[in-house]
Order: sequence, then C-alpha cells, then structure tokens
Amino acid sequence: MKIELTAVEKYYNRGAPNQVHALRTVDLSITSNETVCIHGPSGSGKSTLLAILGGIIGPTSGSAVVDGRKLARLPDRFLTLYRQQHIGFIFQRFRLIPELSVVENVTLPLLPLGIRPAERKRRGWDLLKRLEIGHRGDFLAAEISGGELQRAAVARALINDPSIIVADEPTAHLDTRLSEDFLSIMAELKDLGKTIIIASHDPLVSGNPIVDRCLYLRDGRLTAVPGPQ
Ligand SMILES: Nc1ncnc2c1ncn2[C@@H]1O[C@H](COP(=O)(O)OP(=O)(O)O)[C@@H](O)[C@H]1O
Ligand SMILES: [Mg+2]
Repeated sequence: MKIELTAVEKYYNRGAPNQVHALRTVDLSITSNETVCIHGPSGSGKSTLLAILGGIIGPTSGSAVVDGRKLARLPDRFLTLYRQQHIGFIFQRFRLIPELSVVENVTLPLLPLGIRPAERKRRGWDLLKRLEIGHRGDFLAAEISGGELQRAAVARALINDPSIIVADEPTAHLDTRLSEDFLSIMAELKDLGKTIIIASHDPLVSGNPIVDRCLYLRDGRLTAVPGPQ
C-alpha cells in the first residue's frame, strides 16, 4: 500500500503556552514493500510521525493518504477500522498487558473485529508457533523474558495480517542478539511484501540490508540525509 504525506504539520497543545510544533512541512512518499528507517534524536518527532502513519493521531494540517484514502477525512470509526485492518504497530516498550496470557495479548486486536473465540485462538496459536514462542502462549505476559515479550509484541502486530508494519524504536531495549532476531523477522515480513517503517537510532537497524531508505528527522523536519550536527 502506498503512503503519501503532503505538507504535514503537527502541533500539540496548539495556541497554549506549552505548544509544541512536532512536525514541520513533512512530505513523505513510501511505496508498497519498501522498508524505511526514520532516525533522529529524541524529541525530533519520530513517534509523532509513526502515529500519523499508523492512523493513531491525525495531522494538524496537511494530508496523509494511504492506498488512495485520505486519513484525515475519515471519521474516527473508519480511522479505527483502517488501523485494525491494515496496520501492525510495534510499540517501544511492547505494551503487552502483564495480567493477560501471551495468547490473549496477541489475539486482543481481533476482539473488535467480531471474530469467533475459537478462530481467534487458532490464529493466535498459529502465529505464536510461527514466531517460535508457542510454548509460552499460556504464560502470563508478566512471566516471560524480554526476547519472548518482543516476539509476542510482533505477533500481536501481525495478528490482523497488516500490509503495513510500523515499529517505534523496537530494539531500544534489546541486546544485540535479540535485535538481530527482530530484524530477521522483519526480513521475512519484507519477503512477504509488507511495507515496513521503523523509527530507530540503532545503527543495527539503519545499517541493516533490509532497509531500503533512511530518513532523518530533526526538530520535526525531514531530510533524506543527516544534516549538520
Ligand atoms: N502527546 C503529546 N503532547 C504534547 N507534546 C508531545 C506529545 N507527544 C510528543 N510531544 C512532543 O513532541 C515532540 C516530538 O516528540 P516525539 O514525536 O515523541 O519525538 P521522538 O519520538 O523523536 O522522541 C517532543 O517535543 C515531545 O515532547
Ligand atoms: Mg519516540
């Protein structure tokens, strides 16, 4: 699915004393099956950009068009539907619910889609097995290791078979081996034709062969190459 951002501006608390101009005239075009890395210092707007791409928040102005649909024009319930059907979001700290089992966490995004419990379970277990954590499905999320949590977070992002995977600093809390594991899962997804957008300042990510293109954000402005430090 093609993603096109045009003149995107994002303000938080616009007009208030604590106003933040988080994105400034961002133009970005991402084609299907492209893997793009977005790097930039903390506070540069990476998470904001991903949240817009993932349909979690809307831009203040400008347009975000995905697969020919203008996201900002969609009423909230359609935006939610868009997210549920097309986006797999991997959050920085994984955000699994510690009190739920791994398979319950992974199948959570299917709940609002009205899929029967037996089918939800089947899909959840299939995916956990594919990601080699089938043996942890019945464990509580609070009880599994960091590497397993990461795989569970990836499974949750993939449960709705999204065409676009958005990952926000996915390796920030992982050691080198787990980061490489994560990247090899992304490589498989790329082979399946997914569009992948990763915000990261980890050189393991930006220098990885799966990455087609790296973009640099600084103070909410996007450039193709790092600007002067
Ligand atoms: N929900 C929010 N409300 C107000 N300001 C925010 C919010 N989210 C992010 N910001 C601000 O927007 C700027 C960009 O933040 P963010 O997109 O999280 O950057 P990054 O992910 O690169 O660290 C920062 O100045 C941050 O403090
Ligand atoms: Mg961030």
